[in-house]
Amino acid sequence: MEENSIKNYDIESWQEVILIYRSALKQVETKMEILNDEFQHVHQYNPIEHIKSRIKTPESIVRKLNRYGSEPTISNMVDQVNDIAGIRLICSFTSDIYELANIIAQQKDIHVISVKDYIRYPKQSGYRSYHMIITIPVYLTEKTVRTKVEIQIRTVAMDFWASLEHKIKYKFEGTVPEEFREELLACSKMVADLDSRMETINVAIQDLNQKENEDGTQPA
Ligand code: GTP
Ligand code: MG
Repeated sequence: MEENSIKNYDIESWQEVILIYRSALKQVETKMEILNDEFQHVHQYNPIEHIKSRIKTPESIVRKLNRYGSEPTISNMVDQVNDIAGIRLICSFTSDIYELANIIAQQKDIHVISVKDYIRYPKQSGYRSYHMIITIPVYLTEKTVRTKVEIQIRTVAMDFWASLEHKIKYKFEGTVPEEFREELLACSKMVADLDSRMETINVAIQDLNQKENEDGTQPA
């Protein structure tokens, strides 16, 4: 079957494009649920605490195109707006994030377009998260349409920070006042420290479990 980029596809209406993005999002969501189920089965452990997904609203898409100085056309939206379909994976540990990102990148039908590692290189605001823009094929009756999805992967603590920072940014219409900015930056460092210490405890527990298992299976 012929595989097209979404922009070559003969799109008749906004609804049709959104249907394609919605389908892409469903597929990625299902993939993530499968991975989580498999992990639960093999390791009795869920790397993904929870999943949030959303389709960008028309208002928000138009606002973004305005910001880019582009006309609000379907072709511009498909070309320039990478986060029309967005999924957020919330993990317990930073190591889960990198493990998931690797597994996602290795799936044959997924193409990774770009990666931004705001965990290794946090934003000036203190924002931490791992972002991937990927494409996934959506199989329609007559064509296959490769569709972009933004995947954000972060820990529970990073998500807590980002939600509050987002709320503050929204309240002050994009510019966070100095006193909050400094405090948020300090909290972001605490988040990184907390994540790192929780990871250390988790590794120690895993080592203990492994040792107990090995001891238990050794012949008497
Ligand atoms: P957007 O135009 O905002 O989508 O940003 P971008 O295209 O430059 O991509 P980037 O990877 O920097 O950000 C994508 C998304 O990450 C944003 O839409 C937010 O959901 C989230 N994000 C990025 N920076 C911040 C931040 O400083 N604070 C919070 N709370 N979220 C952020
Ligand atoms: Mg965005």
